[in-house]
Amino acid sequence: MDTKCAEFENEFSSFQERKYSILCNSGGSANLALLQALKNIGKLKEGDHIGFSALTWSTNTMPIIQLGMIPVPLDCDPERLNVMSDNLIERLKQVELKALFLTNVLGFTGDLEEIKKICEIRNIILLEDNCESLGTIVSGTRSGNFGLASTFSFFVAHHMSTIEGGMVCTDDDELAEMLRIVRANGWDRNLNSEQQFNWRKKFNIHSEFQAKYTFYDLGFNFRPTEITGFLGLYQLQFLASNILQRESNYKKLEEIIRTNDNLILLKHDHIDVLSTFAFPLLCRTSKLRDIYLSRFSGAGIEIRPMIAGNMQNQPFYRKYVKKIYDMPGTDFLHQCGFYCGNYPELSNADLEIISGCLYKY
Ligand SMILES: Cc1ncc(COP(=O)(O)O)c(C=O)c1O
Repeated sequence: MDTKCAEFENEFSSFQERKYSILCNSGGSANLALLQALKNIGKLKEGDHIGFSALTWSTNTMPIIQLGMIPVPLDCDPERLNVMSDNLIERLKQVELKALFLTNVLGFTGDLEEIKKICEIRNIILLEDNCESLGTIVSGTRSGNFGLASTFSFFVAHHMSTIEGGMVCTDDDELAEMLRIVRANGWDRNLNSEQQFNWRKKFNIHSEFQAKYTFYDLGFNFRPTEITGFLGLYQLQFLASNILQRESNYKKLEEIIRTNDNLILLKHDHIDVLSTFAFPLLCRTSKLRDIYLSRFSGAGIEIRPMIAGNMQNQPFYRKYVKKIYDMPGTDFLHQCGFYCGNYPELSNADLEIISGCLYKY
């Protein structure tokens, strides 16, 4: 990790319009680093209740458990794929949340403005897992910029790819500094000289020799390599146009979905730019889904479940968490949804093949 990574971090901050970007070796690492850093600076502690979107990825939820906090799932609105403010209000009637680690699902989001307001009033730390929604703009604001910090993934097939890679973005000085400590072993080598001076003074570290192997707080080795930085910089130049292409692909297919009442038309009227890297498809029943799944497979299109479905049904979750909440919206997404890829290189012929699978049964 050297100058290319630093350059990529700076360029990414300009794109995302955030003060700090901290590059990690994956989106999952970014999530774990973020929660660890928040614990290290005392904003979170063991036993805190952390809300999360019931429809998300495993390594959004796992760090909550790994770091000794209590995961509290929030239901998602099937037509918007996401937690909406009323889902949050409902859950807050049952349990106080210290933080909400929201996922912006497959390029879509909930009503983030409202959610942000509720979090501010209730003193809940809002964090966004934006690994699936880089480039989406809601109410004039980039998704990922509504809360204290947000995370991104650059795994292959996401909006931009460094093969493996992830980022944490924040405007918060203290959190950014701690994230640089957490990312690399708990040491101070990636801090600026003023920050190093302060840490060394606080812990009586008087020589550079000693400072080399002084570890100030809990961390990991989540460092990317220069290859990650190089690829990220290279990919950034295509990001804006790729987002537009993906949005235009999505809107073409949406026109067909509109004509087929076997499928539920997803709502995104609150979203200014819809940055999807997938075509999420939602059938009215699970029986209908079976039909569309075999159509897609038959046409040679790779398909996936609606991410991890209702996370509470995952084996790891049942092993570690006893309290299970009712999750009708997310269960419906789990049973009736699936997705296939949406990427800029899809040709008209490819889109035709996908369209051919979307006509009414
Ligand atoms: C919502 C969400 N969070 C986190 C991750 C993890 O990212 P990575 O695969 O880069 O570890 C993903 C991966 O797809 C994701 O979809």
